[in-house]
Amino acid sequence: MRTTTADGLRTAIAFFRRLSGGRDACGSDFVVGVRVSTGVPVPHPGISLPEALEIVPAMVRDGVDFIHLSLKDAARTDPHDERSGVAAIPAVRALIPDSVALIAGGGVVTARDAVSVIAHGADMVAVARAAIGNARWPRIIIEGDTPVNAPYTPEHLKAEDVSERFINYLRRVRRPFVVPERGSTKPDAHLVGQKKQQQAYGS
Ligand SMILES: Cc1cc2nc3c(=O)[nH]c(=O)nc-3n(C[C@H](O)[C@H](O)[C@H](O)COP(=O)(O)O)c2cc1C
Repeated sequence: MRTTTADGLRTAIAFFRRLSGGRDACGSDFVVGVRVSTGVPVPHPGISLPEALEIVPAMVRDGVDFIHLSLKDAARTDPHDERSGVAAIPAVRALIPDSVALIAGGGVVTARDAVSVIAHGADMVAVARAAIGNARWPRIIIEGDTPVNAPYTPEHLKAEDVSERFINYLRRVRRPFVVPERGSTKPDAHLVGQKKQQQAYGS
């Protein structure tokens, strides 16, 4: 029998059910959601879109309150999954009732990106990297300004209240995210030890 990542996820869900007594044990005021990352290229962690479409109905039956879909580029006008050719957001939306919220994200930077994600069927938009580089991202969008896009200089990130420690972490795990320090003659960390970084999350 082929063991897929979805099999692993099913096992995890079964384990959670046994451990917690399932949705009933949480009570109705406790929000339970599952994050489904289909946007990460193999061999990084994550599952394929067909696998996600297989397990999402089971999650809905289990009583999840939201599904969080992490895509490579949720904001594309036609956000098709590269591997399956299926439009990810509408496909997941079709499997879940209105009572289950759909959050989608991946590559959202501008207001236009966010509107596109909503237009494809998401209830909420997730913003990660753009919010790290633009601490006031929601305010920038509301005021009609344009967020600064990655890669960010360390100076910019510091001005956005990102700690030195987190900047160093970002240098390792996300490329292109942090550009070398101005005037630095040292190669940036993201150019060193690429193999190690490829094993890290989402490089
Ligand atoms: C520094 C950093 C750490 C992340 N850690 C996790 C994580 O632990 N688990 C996870 O599922 N996704 C993680 N992500 C992925 C983000 O939640 C998001 O899905 C991804 O970055 C795509 O969205 P974006 O284009 O808005 O950044 C991380 C992203 C970044 C930038």
